[in-house]
Amino acid sequence: MSEYLSTSKKKVTAPAFFKMKQAGEKIAMLTAYDYTTASIIDAAGVDCILIGDSASNVMAGNENTIPISVEQMIYHARAVARAASHALILCDMPFGSYQVSREEGVRNAIKIMKESGVDALKLEGGIEIIETVKAIIDAGIPVCGHLGLTPQSVHKFGGYGLRAKEEAEAEKLIADAEALDKAGCFAIVLEKIPAVLAAKITENVNCATIGIGAGNGTDGQVLVYSDMLGMNRGFRPKFLRQYADLYTVMTDAVGCYINDVKTVSFPNESESY
Ligand code: KIV
Repeated sequence: MSEYLSTSKKKVTAPAFFKMKQAGEKIAMLTAYDYTTASIIDAAGVDCILIGDSASNVMAGNENTIPISVEQMIYHARAVARAASHALILCDMPFGSYQVSREEGVRNAIKIMKESGVDALKLEGGIEIIETVKAIIDAGIPVCGHLGLTPQSVHKFGGYGLRAKEEAEAEKLIADAEALDKAGCFAIVLEKIPAVLAAKITENVNCATIGIGAGNGTDGQVLVYSDMLGMNRGFRPKFLRQYADLYTVMTDAVGCYINDVKTVSFPNESESY
């Protein structure tokens, strides 16, 4: 058995994130959107599986995360929750489900929790959504924040570039992280910001920080599973480490299958009844 495989099957909880931070144990998070993939990722021993709204891109082929609905997120989240026995299951609240009002945010948060069986929810934004974050936590739901590059605001930013390069945005990000921490978030995802800033925020807050394109000074890392497994040829940002080339593995396997069918070498006698 490879050494990274989990020996302990104890369920990871939101409070465990604080303990891992205090103990200096880095937190490994990956996305998943379906039962089969989540089963594999959970068996490998990852600490947290995120049903990201990146399902909009990865599963549905949309250009961004804007179109995915609460119902579609629940569909993916339910499949992942069924698969995972070890990892904390964290689900994104999709665009439009918490920005209108605090009441609507809490109602949608409760709906996702009741209908999907996930353990916690993630919302993008800082001080501007802090009352909603507090109300969701008050309802008994663990919340993970998400700052820096927040893809639901892609049209406001005008793209997916590095955030908080300038002093003013960095200061705002520090204030947002402190507000989320004070509100009781168990973690904050920091996406595509300078490594020095992410490390500073990590020192400033009690909750765990999880980086993506934010250097190694955070308390953990998250990647989109299909990117780190090399399932898509086009997406190669600097922050991405590709651990496999499944695009090649899968196209080669499918090519072999097509050839076997065409040449009538599949199925053979032992594969027939
Ligand atoms: O939706 C997502 O996959 C995410 C991660 C990139 C953090 O939010």
